[in-house]
Amino acid sequence: MKIYRAKTYEDMSRKAANIISAQIIMKPDAVLGLATGSSPIGAYKQLIDWYNKGDLDFSEIRSVNLDEYKGLGPDDEQSYAYFMKENLFKHVNIKPENTYIPNGLEEDTEYECRRYNGIIAGLGGIDLQLLGIGGNGHIGFNEPGEAYDKETHCVALTENTIKANARFFDSMDQVPKFAYSTGIKNIMQAKAILLIASGESKAEAVYNMICGPITPACPASILQLHNNVSVVADQAAMAVYDQRMS
Ligand code: GLP
Repeated sequence: MKIYRAKTYEDMSRKAANIISAQIIMKPDAVLGLATGSSPIGAYKQLIDWYNKGDLDFSEIRSVNLDEYKGLGPDDEQSYAYFMKENLFKHVNIKPENTYIPNGLEEDTEYECRRYNGIIAGLGGIDLQLLGIGGNGHIGFNEPGEAYDKETHCVALTENTIKANARFFDSMDQVPKFAYSTGIKNIMQAKAILLIASGESKAEAVYNMICGPITPACPASILQLHNNVSVVADQAAMAVYDQRMS
């Protein structure tokens, strides 16, 4: 695990965008595993900026998103499909037909999970998987306690995650309780992983990810076993690590 320290959220975003853009330049038709949440917004902004300056070309890039709320369609402003369109896709020259996100409106769970795993396999796997991290150590929507050998599956979100995500909704009742998420197995099969973390609410999870035992109780701890993981974390997210390791 390579740890890159950043001073602030902006610094973290720029460093993360540098790693993503290196991947795009080295392999113009790379398969990017993309993430949502507040963590990657700054990195996406930076990528858009470099695209506008003519430094990046997304025309052959393929993307597979980590997850989507079950029950929300792409026109719903809270869906991850909508998030991706607003925060990245509509600003760059990625082809819409090359962007994949689980279909939140598909009620047949088994069908959707099989379909999505088939898409990832059909693309030849993920070259670079971008991840945020939940305060409880979740990655994608792989909540504590989930088996490590899962591929795309339907998740019952924990109370903790529902509360954390409520800030994007008008009320708690509106936060979906289920989501489709790629599994730890899909994530671990990515050739390279880039995890970004910002803020003190992530500090305990970041410490457990780097130093804790490898256990489903902290899903991100499995990343210790992957041979190409970069973590870009700002000072606040590194605080518990710094305190305990000093
Ligand atoms: C959600 C997403 C995760 C994300 C996490 C942290 O649960 N499914 O992919 O990493 O939130 O979000 P944020 O970056 O907003 O803190």
